[in-house]
Amino acid sequence: MKSLVAYFSAEAGRTAAVAKDLAALMEGALYEIQPSVPYTAADLKWINPFARCNREKMGGKDVPVEGSIGDFGEYDTVFIGFPIWYGCAPNVVNSFCKAYDWTGKKVYIFATSGGSGIGKTAEKLKPYISGAEVVDAKVVRNANELKSWVE
Ligand SMILES: Cc1cc2nc3c(=O)[nH]c(=O)nc-3n(C[C@H](O)[C@H](O)[C@H](O)COP(=O)(O)O)c2cc1C
Repeated sequence: MKSLVAYFSAEAGRTAAVAKDLAALMEGALYEIQPSVPYTAADLKWINPFARCNREKMGGKDVPVEGSIGDFGEYDTVFIGFPIWYGCAPNVVNSFCKAYDWTGKKVYIFATSGGSGIGKTAEKLKPYISGAEVVDAKVVRNANELKSWVE
């Protein structure tokens, strides 16, 4: 099994920490999903209605990503990690996902959050990973909670 952990993390590196530990556990490759224009702290202040995060969310905006994964086709299992934003995956994760062919891949979705559960996160991401089988999706605080995925 060749696995890839692809993650986006913006605020405090919480998702990054889980992703790194998971990649070590899986002995898999690690890839950071980055927007072409990095988020500043002001961009993430959702309390401000005009903040970038709110404009992107309200406009359903495509958020261009930096770079790409050349050997994506070689991975049969992909772990996708991100912080829950507004009850689902951030738009930049959708933009990342729709650039690749997911046919036949096994996908595990993990997220960190400020308290929200996984809710409909996986269902909302599915149109962007069509052809993949979503094996599991959950909100976690650390990679130990994902150990069952490794076995
Ligand atoms: C724009 C934005 C929207 C968010 N929406 C939610 C939400 O709907 N539910 C929730 O529990 N946390 C929400 N959060 C909090 C993050 O999910 C949480 O802080 C996460 O662990 C941050 O991970 P990171 O450090 O990897 O970016 C939101 C944060 C931001 C910046």
